[in-house]
Amino acid sequence: MSPLLSVQGVTKRFGGLVAVADVSFDIAPGELVGLIGPNGSGKTTLLNIMSGHLSGDQGRILLDGEPCSGLKPQGLARRGLMRMFQLTRIFPRMNVLDNLLVGGRALGLAADEAKTRANALLEELQIAHVGHLDAGQLSGGQMKLLEFGCCFMRTPRLALLDEPFAAIHPTMKEIMSRFIRARHAEGQTFVLVSHDMPVIVELCPRSICMNAGRVLSDGATSQVLAAPAVIEAYLGGAAA
Ligand SMILES: Nc1ncnc2c1ncn2[C@@H]1O[C@H](COP(=O)(O)OP(=O)(O)OP(=O)(O)O)[C@@H](O)[C@H]1O
Ligand SMILES: [Mg+2]
Repeated sequence: MSPLLSVQGVTKRFGGLVAVADVSFDIAPGELVGLIGPNGSGKTTLLNIMSGHLSGDQGRILLDGEPCSGLKPQGLARRGLMRMFQLTRIFPRMNVLDNLLVGGRALGLAADEAKTRANALLEELQIAHVGHLDAGQLSGGQMKLLEFGCCFMRTPRLALLDEPFAAIHPTMKEIMSRFIRARHAEGQTFVLVSHDMPVIVELCPRSICMNAGRVLSDGATSQVLAAPAVIEAYLGGAAA
């Protein structure tokens, strides 16, 4: 099967620091891939390049076989590539329902369709009871659920999720992981960044481990987690 996304030799430098170093991998349609690695290993930077929020210095990215490097996030979103941020990005002075509606309209949904979709997501993510509140009044976990929901207003071809479970209540973690599991079972495609290894093991058949900008290991999650270089990267702290 031809890849949905192909990352080819992507490199990004910040001054003298090589944050992403010659990274290559393919994501096939329907895959749920864990992107793991110690703090500062380049996961968020790579996601930023994949989603058009940063441009790489070298390499290229193909979506459906077509180069998409240089496209803006909005253009990529309209082609089905959605992104959830490590630091939540929502409109705090807009109510929860409107946050979803604005996201849906930006993705080209008609008003009625956006409303139906938003209400279904509010129910499924168990935040319908706070739908009328300003998003800024939500708990941190509820904000994460809202941003998560915004990624699914139109079914994404590829969802890039950056630490959706970080610092949230286990109940909310369970809501999100159940949602991801169900969508994956329906054939949706995900890249999931997380430091939560039990969740990565549970959800992701395949994982890619980065360290110091490089891909250390890419394969079946159990094999990646058992790879000596991966264990050393986590235990060693400093970049190898
Ligand atoms: N805008 C920037 N300017 C300079 N350096 C940056 C910038 N963004 C990231 N870096 C550096 O690039 C490296 C990779 O950072 P990145 O945030 O991609 O790592 P990460 O794997 O997402 O880490 P974490 O698990 O802590 O979220 C780090 O050394 C970081 O300090
Ligand atoms: Mg990060």
